[in-house]
Amino acid sequence: MELNIALLPGDGIGPEVVGQAVKVVDAVAEKFGHRVNWTFGLTGAAAIDAVGDPYPESTHEICLAADAVLFGAIGHPRYDNDPKAPVRPEQGLLKMRKQLGLFANVRPTFTFPSLIDNSPLKRERIEGTDLIILRELTGGIYFGERGRKDNGETAFDTCTYTRDEVKRLAKLGFEMAMNRRKKLCCVDKANVLESSRLWRETVQDMEKDFPEVEVSYEFVDAVAMRLVQWPSSYDVLITENLFGDILTDEASVISGSMGLMPSASIGVHTSLFEPIHGSYPQAAGKDIANPLATVLSAAMLFEDAFGLKEEAELIRAVVNKSLAEGIVTEDLAANNKAYKTSEVGDWLAAQVKLPEGITATPAQ
Ligand code: IPM
Ligand code: MN
Repeated sequence: MELNIALLPGDGIGPEVVGQAVKVVDAVAEKFGHRVNWTFGLTGAAAIDAVGDPYPESTHEICLAADAVLFGAIGHPRYDNDPKAPVRPEQGLLKMRKQLGLFANVRPTFTFPSLIDNSPLKRERIEGTDLIILRELTGGIYFGERGRKDNGETAFDTCTYTRDEVKRLAKLGFEMAMNRRKKLCCVDKANVLESSRLWRETVQDMEKDFPEVEVSYEFVDAVAMRLVQWPSSYDVLITENLFGDILTDEASVISGSMGLMPSASIGVHTSLFEPIHGSYPQAAGKDIANPLATVLSAAMLFEDAFGLKEEAELIRAVVNKSLAEGIVTEDLAANNKAYKTSEVGDWLAAQVKLPEGITATPAQ
């Protein structure tokens, strides 16, 4: 199969972690007889420096023409403490999501058997956790009307949703639940917010189309609590953009390191795959960042963008093996030897190429 993949390394540790995913994808492609055509695109601070735009039109065209996008991270400390900067790297991310119509962000949280004790939560609380937060990504307060008034002394951001926006996200949530444990949780703040009441009403109307799915409605503050108390009680959660941003960061540490969780953004045009973590500028260029979230994002890419399940499973198996054998970067090494980012990538690619294949350590 011919795989046309747009490669957007972005900023900070982005290029390093994406570089390891490329090694693994190329190794998998070689093994299964696929041909990968990588096309590089500029994004983030790197793109501002080069062309003055964090998501230039040329990059958008590369993404539109590709079958899938593999993305690293966006962000640079130069902009973090400068609220008046006219262009910011993050604007590139939002523009990319909007222009590619990436309305659904799929962020799974699962545990790795060999890492259970790395989690900040107790083993008995997190064992068996396997949930997906489906975050709405192109609406809500991120894209609503905003501004200042009263001579700049008052600021406002508005959260707006249409019924259709809620419906298309919820439909994906119901479909995902049908393929999993058939449980869907609609996360909102319907006791206060009108937009949340529209979410709840819309999801309630859709229940009849998915009679097998057991739907619960929970307030976001309660979900924030239950995610650390009983994460294993959830299956698929759907929620609006800002709630999803916050809850997915919370959920991402359950597995033991933020450097582990992959994500997919899907919608109208090409789907995009990226690690959940950010650009981690303190580690940039040091060859110490954990590449596993990006490598696992590449597994999602094989499965979701191309329907290549066996390839995805092989990637997950070699990642599990690296964790079990301690071929890990410093965030997971504890008192053992810490491997470099590039060493972990080389090791994973070499494992992929082993002729006898890998016996997968089960994910749970
Ligand atoms: C994320 C990030 C972005 C977001 C930032 C960088 C704009 O935190 O992908 O979760 O808030 O969506
Ligand atoms: Mn975030």
